[in-house]
Amino acid sequence: ITTRQIFKNACELVVSSGKYVKSAHIASTKPSSDNKESFADLVTEYDRGTEKLLIGQLSRCYPAHKFIAEEMVADGGECNLTNEPTWIIDPIDGTTNFVHGFPAYCISVGFFVEKDPVLGIVYDIPNDKIYSAIKGEGAFCNGRVIKCSSTTDLNSSLLAAGFGPQRKTDFLRFKMGIMNTLVEKCHGIRCIGSAALDICHVAAGYIDANVQFGPHIWDYAAAHLIALEAGAVCSAPNGQPMNLLSRKLLVCSTDELRDQIVPLLGDFPLPHD
Ligand code: IPD
Repeated sequence: ITTRQIFKNACELVVSSGKYVKSAHIASTKPSSDNKESFADLVTEYDRGTEKLLIGQLSRCYPAHKFIAEEMVADGGECNLTNEPTWIIDPIDGTTNFVHGFPAYCISVGFFVEKDPVLGIVYDIPNDKIYSAIKGEGAFCNGRVIKCSSTTDLNSSLLAAGFGPQRKTDFLRFKMGIMNTLVEKCHGIRCIGSAALDICHVAAGYIDANVQFGPHIWDYAAAHLIALEAGAVCSAPNGQPMNLLSRKLLVCSTDELRDQIVPLLGDFPLPHD
């Protein structure tokens, strides 16, 4: 079986799982949610249901493949990225938006072999946009090639960042500090509440850089490949090579932008995935 066939199969599966997620809002009441690590860290029956659908179908097609998925890990499953072919899944990235009906949430599916990303699919459900990439073949949105911007000057850039669902004062202060420093130097900072979409927006060229402290590998596994294939530079926020398990990521459209952002960020200790 070729990577292209696996990709096609996964795209179809993601789109059909998206129909299930869409059905939540047809019911016109807000989907009910439970809390995970904090009162602001939400999970719904649709997160669990989508993950079940995706893992169920993918494991039927590819019985030898491994999985790392958000709700599986939340329920005590292992987050262990090995050399085996592995699917990394966030059934709904932007669950808070999904619960409130704010139109920015997506399904994120990445596929890794020998710890390297091979394909990434991010389906922006309310806007019906499928961002995708196969390693070495460029990045696409709904089948059209996308490229990140050529912005080299922080003063001319539009950035994305977020607060995340953690509610620890020192961590939030750290994030506020970054926002304060960055906003003085750029055109604006957008916080849309989905790490995967933030990164896809860099790939699409309308956000110039995105900094992430706190999300997990399933939030950015697929999107970071899409950004790389669109020409973006991915590193750790301190400019070192990125580590996908570190829960820290800086995605910039150009090296010049990265070089201006890195000295402004500082660091915050976070347990690895
Ligand atoms: C969250 C979103 C958010 C990010 C959080 C993630 P979820 O994902 O990506 O933008 O800041 O850290 O947890 O929980 O909605 O899948």
